[in-house]
Amino acid sequence: MQLKLSKMITKPDFQGEFTASILAAAASPDIISFAGGLPNPVSFPIPEMEAATKKVLETNGVIALQYSSTAGWPALRQWIAKRYETMGVYGVKPEDIIVTNGSQQALAMVGAAMLDAGDEIVVENPTYLVALQSFHVYDPKVLPVTMNKDGIDCDELEATLKAHPGVKFAYVIPNFQNPTGLSYSKAVRDRAAEIFKAAGVLVLEDNPYRELRFAGTAAESFGAALGEQCCMLGTFSKIVTPGMRIGWICVRNAELREKLLNFKATADLHTNIFSQMILAQYLADNDVDAHIEKTKVLYKQKAEFMMDCMRKYLPEGVEFTPTEGGMFLWVTLPEGVTAVDLYRKGLEKGVAICPGDPFYEYERGVRTFRMNYSNSTDEAIEKGVRILGEACRELM
Ligand SMILES: Cc1ncc(COP(=O)(O)O)c(C=O)c1O
Repeated sequence: MQLKLSKMITKPDFQGEFTASILAAAASPDIISFAGGLPNPVSFPIPEMEAATKKVLETNGVIALQYSSTAGWPALRQWIAKRYETMGVYGVKPEDIIVTNGSQQALAMVGAAMLDAGDEIVVENPTYLVALQSFHVYDPKVLPVTMNKDGIDCDELEATLKAHPGVKFAYVIPNFQNPTGLSYSKAVRDRAAEIFKAAGVLVLEDNPYRELRFAGTAAESFGAALGEQCCMLGTFSKIVTPGMRIGWICVRNAELREKLLNFKATADLHTNIFSQMILAQYLADNDVDAHIEKTKVLYKQKAEFMMDCMRKYLPEGVEFTPTEGGMFLWVTLPEGVTAVDLYRKGLEKGVAICPGDPFYEYERGVRTFRMNYSNSTDEAIEKGVRILGEACRELM
């Protein structure tokens, strides 16, 4: 039968195919994998979740197992709205929050609500590959702006927005960006906010790693300076659990909020209400900051250990950007060696990295790659980085 399918792109793009093949290769138990981005199970509060689940079923079982409202569980929306005060964003109301099926769903919702084929969007270069994948569904023209060590390149951003006055939104990850692990300095954040304000461009701020800072201080959220011109995405995935799939979007523009809610209702009616209520109960009964602190202590140790191993085992000419939080390190190979070369050679020797290619909209054969440290043992980190060092030497 000849089906009459829509023009929407649903087959995996370059990003999707590349990632699927890397994750499949890295999934073998014989491979030391730095390719993925899994949180360490130390951040999963299992007994506390068990207690919260029991309490929800005992006190509110019928609501927890019934259909619910699209925007999300009020107690959870309230908690999230209040949390923004710790990021210097005041006046967020629970009504501004839509609880989503991971922040990933919020990305898909924004694509659906805002993009038509050929629309222009700005992203950092490189950027989170599954965000690119989500936007590609709507076939926009992606305008990548260089990501420097202290954040987006403001001159390039200004020139891009001047040359493209119709840009629909700019997608930014200001803290411990995926893939680079880099954060915006205060100066870059302030200047970028001025540029966005002058251009009147909606900012889509994705912030899954902000709470995982183990050194230095974070620049303020764009939401503090831009008000309703900034939508802020968040998630419990990296601080409590990714498996419950609970994220959110804070959207203070009423027209956009309504459009997002309409799209969400058609996608899933609402985020799993049982999970939302358990999480809200967990947050009410426990000190989540103390919990996050434990995760940060572990990630700091892992990041420092991986950086020490890199200094010890990687040959001269291979550079990495030190990080102050999050889950990733970003490594650059010398001229003449591509990250895909290293990926292949590493795999032959039993170690997987994530080549930078799918994080770029256009560049291929790049020399950059991402290393995840959150979920490997110290033994695996030392052995894996030593092997990568050997692989680099062979390729160089
Ligand atoms: C930058 C970024 N945004 C969004 C997500 C999606 O996270 P989740 O859907 O689990 O909230 C991730 C996951 O790794 C990410 O790195």
